Amino acid sequence: MMVLAIESTCDETACALVCSLKVQTGVGVMSSVIASSAEILAKYGGIVPEVAAREQVASIIPVIKEALGYAKVTERRIDAVAVSYGPGLVGSLLIGIETAKTLALAWEKPLIRVNHMAAHVFANWIVPDTGGETVTQRHGDTPELPAVGLVVSGGHTELILLKSVSDWQWLGGTRDDAAGEAYDKAARAMGLPYPGGPAIAKTAEQYQSSGYRNKKSEIKLPRPMINEDNLDMSFSGLKTALVNVLKCSREATKNDPDFLPFLAAEFNDAVAEVLIKKTMKAAEKYQPKSVLLAGGVAASAALRSGLESECQAAGVKLFVPELKYCTDNAAMIGAAALMRPDYVEPLKLKPEPGLTVV
Ligand code: KG4
Ligand code: ZN
Repeated sequence: MMVLAIESTCDETACALVCSLKVQTGVGVMSSVIASSAEILAKYGGIVPEVAAREQVASIIPVIKEALGYAKVTERRIDAVAVSYGPGLVGSLLIGIETAKTLALAWEKPLIRVNHMAAHVFANWIVPDTGGETVTQRHGDTPELPAVGLVVSGGHTELILLKSVSDWQWLGGTRDDAAGEAYDKAARAMGLPYPGGPAIAKTAEQYQSSGYRNKKSEIKLPRPMINEDNLDMSFSGLKTALVNVLKCSREATKNDPDFLPFLAAEFNDAVAEVLIKKTMKAAEKYQPKSVLLAGGVAASAALRSGLESECQAAGVKLFVPELKYCTDNAAMIGAAALMRPDYVEPLKLKPEPGLTVV
């Protein structure tokens, strides 16, 4: 089965051609094209919904054409059109949904609705790229269920239990800011560009290579709720603690070239430690066969490597999508459509900005 998938929930406009693999379960990607307005939005320090939606309009057709061209397929070989219908910004969502509906109608193909957050999780079923037509030859190592999933993005931080492909249970999540949102706000306070996650990670790297860890150890950020016996999290206070460090530190400290890199590393560690502790708590409680990491914050090296060692110690297999499938992309939308092909929608599909993962 081959699917043309569209993603337009926020500031990325993306289209991918994906297919189910004949040899093994798993999803092959024939093309995945992404246009991002993050650089334009960086001028404003974050998302401006109207600007993001305008950029969606300008990018959607060129992105679809490029995805079809790269995969070298015409609509005759496509079995279905898939689109993310939420959660997200209503203006951005509308562009992808209306385009997908139009293609499905014109090509006489079924339209599959995809929950964007669930799609982040299904990115773990994408096998490494082979490009072109050769994907059917690949063997994929795909997650075994039940699995515990940690979905960490700009708007969401949730722990879920995947009992089967469509039977999911919400286990816990943030009570306030999402982890990605905390990254974006912390970066802004530190004078770093949007999106905050990669900017903070890059700044933290400067510190890690400078060997200053002991010298600045008087600056310690909290690990909110880390020792509480539940699967809830909170990141708003962590961001406030960082803002207070920025406000209250002595001028001499602030002028030290290692001050910001240290703060970035400390913030990175604090977020990763909380996410890892709560995920392992869920794994201990539910004894899953796999742990799945998903969402933009899954690109964090501190989170990936920390979770890897914890999962190894606990004897549970960790799955993390390739970096390019962690942040928003359409291949994951296609993967979700292939995993849940029965989510077929009539052509009156509407955006659901507040859709939840379960
Ligand atoms: O999943 P995503 O691309 O979009 C949403 O669905 O929200 O996630 C975007 C979030 C942003 O908040 C961004 O700062 C964060 O993912 N992010 C990272 C990294 N790369 C992106 N956070 C931590 N470390 C990274 N390397
Ligand atoms: Zn996302």
